[in-house]
Amino acid sequence: MSTTEQLARDLAAARARTLLLTDHDEPELLRQHTPLLSPLVWDLAHIGQQEDLWLLRRGDARRPGLLPADVEALYDAFTHPRAVRARLPLLPPVEARSFCGEVRGRVLDRLERLGADDDPFDFAMVVSHEQQHDETMLQALNLRAGPPLLGAGAPLPPGRPGVAGTSVLVPGGEFVLGVDATDEPFSLDNERPAHVVDVPAFRIGRVPVTNAEYAAFVADGGYGDRRWWSERGWAHRVEAGLERPQFWSPEGTRTRFGVLEEIPPDEPVQHVTFFEAEAHAAWAGARLPTETEWEKAAVWDPAAGRRRRWPWGSSDPTPALANLDGTALRPAPVGAYPAGASAYGAEQLVGDVWEWTSSDFTAWPGFTPMLYADYSAPFFGGDYKVLRGGAWSVASSILRPSFRNWDHPIRRQVFSGFRLAWDA
Ligand SMILES: [Fe+2]
Repeated sequence: MSTTEQLARDLAAARARTLLLTDHDEPELLRQHTPLLSPLVWDLAHIGQQEDLWLLRRGDARRPGLLPADVEALYDAFTHPRAVRARLPLLPPVEARSFCGEVRGRVLDRLERLGADDDPFDFAMVVSHEQQHDETMLQALNLRAGPPLLGAGAPLPPGRPGVAGTSVLVPGGEFVLGVDATDEPFSLDNERPAHVVDVPAFRIGRVPVTNAEYAAFVADGGYGDRRWWSERGWAHRVEAGLERPQFWSPEGTRTRFGVLEEIPPDEPVQHVTFFEAEAHAAWAGARLPTETEWEKAAVWDPAAGRRRRWPWGSSDPTPALANLDGTALRPAPVGAYPAGASAYGAEQLVGDVWEWTSSDFTAWPGFTPMLYADYSAPFFGGDYKVLRGGAWSVASSILRPSFRNWDHPIRRQVFSGFRLAWDA
């Protein structure tokens, strides 16, 4: 498949998903479920506005776009924080959809005539942007009260007994962290450049921490025992009144996209803050991995002395290798993807849950911003922790093991879990 064909296919897949997630009546799209997330109709028009800006105007906001300037300004994420977006005079859903469609028609015309001054990367960046908003729309739909809109999710492979709580050894030594455009032309700015780092030996969980393992921490009084928590973590736990993961009830049930169900013991735990992950790890006699350790465990092939494109090798993700693309609406049980194991034997690194790491979000040495220069740079050095691996909710077309997500350590509407690590 040519690059143009691949981009056309990825753009179409992103749009099909956006339209599916916004195929609800007008009041539903205007509702704001939490100040942490936008009403869906904002995401919808913002997707089109960003596509117009990056692909039809090459990022030059002074050039007129398809929307009047005062309307376009409503979709600037930096001027209008999520909490206030429901009160803006937003485009109604019908107009938002037709605006997105008009932008897309012109973008596809440009893609067909891809010229010397068109960078295919910019199209991939826009696909990534749309798919990332689709994921935040899933977060909003998960927080929504009321009967399910999306069903219970597609079936997943069964887990394997005996893998929860086990770990693998990653011997010490150098590896290549990050990627370059030559190997990963669609990698985003914060994943680049590739550079050699030395990582002391460590052990890492073969699979993420499960609901059963997390429930044992809750049952052991972990939320009331200050010694497991960092100072900031404890202060947040008390202030926010945290007692268990978000969406869990004291009775052992959870709600997920409007479905009430028993908490499955062998699924990776989801919807914990960084601070909760850190406290569980301390209680378990472990720690969180750094993102460098996580990436080495995921992609380094010690026998070949080079990175693999995916933990399992070079073939693209399939439903037999990883739980991605948002259809399951939940993580798969641990042990569900033995064929997806990394060279070191770690499993489910890609898909299922975003994994909190102990790392702050910083630039790799030699960082150069991409066309969307405010994607990463304004967030470096802020109050963010890096999450790795991508959850079930992430599109495989935009994911790489080098992909870096970041969020405030108090957030948990994200599809976030974690795995443990130990010094070796
Ligand atoms: Fe955005």
